[in-house]
Amino acid sequence: MQFTETVMDHFTNPRNVGVLEDADAFVEVGSSECGDTTALYLKIEEGRIVDVRFRTLGCAAAIASSSMATEMIKGKSLEEAWALTNREVADALGGLPEPKMHCSVLAEDAIREAINSYREKQGLEPW
Ligand code: FES
Repeated sequence: MQFTETVMDHFTNPRNVGVLEDADAFVEVGSSECGDTTALYLKIEEGRIVDVRFRTLGCAAAIASSSMATEMIKGKSLEEAWALTNREVADALGGLPEPKMHCSVLAEDAIREAINSYREKQGLEPW
């Protein structure tokens, strides 16, 4: 399977890996297709994601997608982060082979679930 240089870069040197002890939102999501998982931590201030960490137990495409997605949402408003699609993450990685597109969904799911868990903690309706 052929991965782009950007995918290999984010897989071998993933950004924002780890744990945020003082996270405002934490979720763990699993892929319905393969059972791989991503844990996501968000630090949120005034409706903006000021810090983010992830831990993905998954394939190269899932790790690269999580890494790229965290780079793309850092500093963004919750609305902007919510709007990020797995297709945009895959495009930013220079593309993913079609059989690996589902791996990029983990990051999108984790971001949206984390935002909704934060909203619920604030007493707001989930999006
Ligand atoms: S094969 Fe499970 S996330 Fe890629």
